[in-house]
Amino acid sequence: MSSNTGDLVADFFCGSGTTLAVAEKLGRKWIGCDLGRFAIHTSRKRMIDVQRQLKQDGKPYRAFEILNLGKYERQYFSGINPNLSEEEKVKLSIQKEEQYLHLILQAYKAERVLQMQPFHGRRGKTVIVVGPLDAPVTQAIVHEAVDACKKQQISKLDILGFDFEMGLLPYEVDKAREKGVRLQLQYIPRDVFDKRAVEKGQVTFYDVAYVEIKPHVEGTKAWVELTDFGVFYRQDDDAEKIKKLKNNSSKVIVKEGRVVKVSKDKHGVVNEDVLTKQWSDWIDYWAVDFDFFTRAETVRILENGVERDVFTGNYLFENEWQSFRTRKDRSLEMQSAAYEYPHAGRTYTIAVKVIDIFGNDTTKVVEVKT
Ligand SMILES: C[S@@+](CC[C@H](N)C(=O)[O-])C[C@H]1O[C@@H](n2cnc3c(N)ncnc32)[C@H](O)[C@@H]1O
Repeated sequence: MSSNTGDLVADFFCGSGTTLAVAEKLGRKWIGCDLGRFAIHTSRKRMIDVQRQLKQDGKPYRAFEILNLGKYERQYFSGINPNLSEEEKVKLSIQKEEQYLHLILQAYKAERVLQMQPFHGRRGKTVIVVGPLDAPVTQAIVHEAVDACKKQQISKLDILGFDFEMGLLPYEVDKAREKGVRLQLQYIPRDVFDKRAVEKGQVTFYDVAYVEIKPHVEGTKAWVELTDFGVFYRQDDDAEKIKKLKNNSSKVIVKEGRVVKVSKDKHGVVNEDVLTKQWSDWIDYWAVDFDFFTRAETVRILENGVERDVFTGNYLFENEWQSFRTRKDRSLEMQSAAYEYPHAGRTYTIAVKVIDIFGNDTTKVVEVKT
């Protein structure tokens, strides 16, 4: 109402994306932000639907990008004033590191342990390693921790990270099991930087999932098939949640790695209905980028008054094909459409991004030869 065609509209608390959808339909440019995973995911699906509708009606529509709070923003949290003396910088960085570990362990409801290298914390009999703030948890970090568990006869290990090197799962978990260690990789959610959420104990960590895909190639054409998705989400307080449930009501919870709808009738009799009967039930959305590693992600930084672009180490994922469930249509395609490559006899990299029903994403990369 208060903007003109071609203007830029922003909704910094975009929720399910109503403002953005209307802006797109009315020919405005738009920016949306939200701290909720579901909000972003719902907006994404909605905007794809708007694009599809506009395309069908022969009207113009725009491409859009989704940007995550990444390591540069996280570094801000650990920002150390560069004007301090070297000695002060070292002192401060130890303090900051300690603050960071405390924050993550507090959110994970674990205690800090000292002199138990390489472990940072403990929760009951489980030892915990907190991954770095601005780099992925690597295979080397996992091996060091698993070997230390074996030496010290510890059988449960949780590794927390913002990012994980690709391909750790399920291989590393199986290898750890052979050594007698129950290993869990858990994503540190962004809510750890929300002080109130940490204090209220409302921060949920999610298991790192894995996805298996099968590429098919015929000449210069390729398509992808989803073949497996694994996730081991637990909710520690499920018994408590069922107990608290009022008569004549229901709630969806995660119980022993399955999503269960628990209902109580008027007499308080509990009925459990498993919603995730097969692996594909965990998947809400998946998308394919048929030529990944071609678009390097850069950020523009200002250094001594000069701006320059720096490679972040990540690549941009371009949705070249996607399938997702909607409220009305719960079906999901398990095979992508075929993509035509420009050259024969070349190697291309395909990336598949899966978003599960909790809004967490998992990426898998494979090479194909045309
Ligand atoms: C009522 S909804 C917004 C509805 C939307 N503006 C519209 O017009 O349809 C409020 C949203 O604000 C988000 N939110 C709350 N605090 C936030 C914060 N500090 N930063 C970003 N998003 C936030 C919530 O996740 C929620 O999705």
